Amino acid sequence: MKTIENKKIRIALLGLGTVGGGVYEVLGGLESELPDKIGAKLEIGKILVRDLTKAGRNVKDPSVLTNDWNSILKDPTIDIVVEVMGGMEPAKTYILQALQSGKNVVTANKDLLAAYGKEILNAAEEAGKDLLFEAAVAGGIPIIRPLKQCLLGNHITEVMGIVNGTTNFILSKMTSEGMEFQEALALATRLGYAEADPTADIEGLDAARKVAILASIAFHSRVVFDDVYTEGITKITATDIRYAREMGCDIKLLGVARDTPEGIEARVHPMLIPSSHPLASVQDSFNAVFLHGDAVDDAMFYGRGAGKLPTASAVVGDILECARNILWSCTGRIACSCYREIPVKKMEDIRSRYFLRMQVEDRYGVLASVASVFGNNCVSIEKIVQKDRWETTAELVVITDPVKERHLRDSLAVFEGMSIIKEISSVIRVYGDK
Ligand code: NAP
Ligand code: HSE
Repeated sequence: MKTIENKKIRIALLGLGTVGGGVYEVLGGLESELPDKIGAKLEIGKILVRDLTKAGRNVKDPSVLTNDWNSILKDPTIDIVVEVMGGMEPAKTYILQALQSGKNVVTANKDLLAAYGKEILNAAEEAGKDLLFEAAVAGGIPIIRPLKQCLLGNHITEVMGIVNGTTNFILSKMTSEGMEFQEALALATRLGYAEADPTADIEGLDAARKVAILASIAFHSRVVFDDVYTEGITKITATDIRYAREMGCDIKLLGVARDTPEGIEARVHPMLIPSSHPLASVQDSFNAVFLHGDAVDDAMFYGRGAGKLPTASAVVGDILECARNILWSCTGRIACSCYREIPVKKMEDIRSRYFLRMQVEDRYGVLASVASVFGNNCVSIEKIVQKDRWETTAELVVITDPVKERHLRDSLAVFEGMSIIKEISSVIRVYGDK
């Protein structure tokens, strides 16, 4: 490929942590090939960090390090700002200022996009600049650009994903080795999968941000983090997983987004899925996104959802795409794709099947009482099994037909006031209509 007037594209990295360090490394390895790959050279002109004195920065020329954002903003030779510092502020201000001053932006910041995607994409559109964010969902797995470009000819009706590696690792260990949640979490922490504060992962918040972004792009209608119903994996037990396996299912933390005639469903929660489903085969810290389009049918994207080099792979892909757009004077080509305004359904109105594990008094009439509470609250039972009994307690496992969440909750509220029900141990949604 011919280089365009020996053009050099200059970028600034905001952040040199896990992802920033990976981007620096990957770009370094591409240096000599870039003129052939994209038709231009690429240079990291500045790197913004918090702490200039931090040891162990692996940069060839330390003079590119700065803690002064204005030195980047005011530098007219910087074409692309790569935001890999994370958090809401000052990341949001820096991104908006960069766009307003005519720079293109690449970001991996899902927290920011899930809350302020509309404002940021509008700013990019107004400026006629690129705002690319492939790494914000499922790290190294290409899914944003496939949705925005390759699959644009489809009406996408469902996107389902394992989009958090930490929780998938924990559930995988609970499944393969029979560990309880706390033991698997401790292992994930020891191995560096879980962060010191794992709340955002284990409570499903990280996955919910990714679901908000995926749903917005797949259905062309804005879904924000607060719209996504979120439930984590902290209540899942080894017993739930064992019983699920006996039924031919695995338990996964799934992000689910569906475009239905009544509105968009956007939710993150543990779910029993048949072990034959492609998502059930996604083990350890791997991620996958499964979707259905009217033309493409089912498609699944699989790979590493986080980590230094996998995430850098996505960020560098965006940088090179943006560089090409700069070279061909076509930045801002693909703007915000939300041209519809579809309401997001309330969780109470969503229909699911449920797996319930409950401890009840072991005596005559109890099963009939349980069945009548369900019956009185429009909950139809698909299957009910007595799993175990000891002393005066029996353990029941109930699988319901698809029912509205509000009806299930009404039943649970009645059970709470019944002395024959000793404990509702688990309530987990089940994939599919039958
Ligand atoms: P990280 O390791 O904590 O690194 C953050 C970097 O940003 C550090 O170099 C830090 O500077 C710098 N920084 C933070 N606040 C700053 C400020 N106010 N001013 C200047 N510099 C600042 O974070 P990370 O894991 O690389 O994540 C970065 C982003 O990528 C986040 O949005 C995250 O959600 C996203 N992401 C991460 C992964 C992953 O696997 N880690 C995967 C997908 C997406 P110092 O070095 O001086 O502290
Ligand atoms: N903490 C996330 C995960 C990676 O465990 O998948 C960053 O999105």
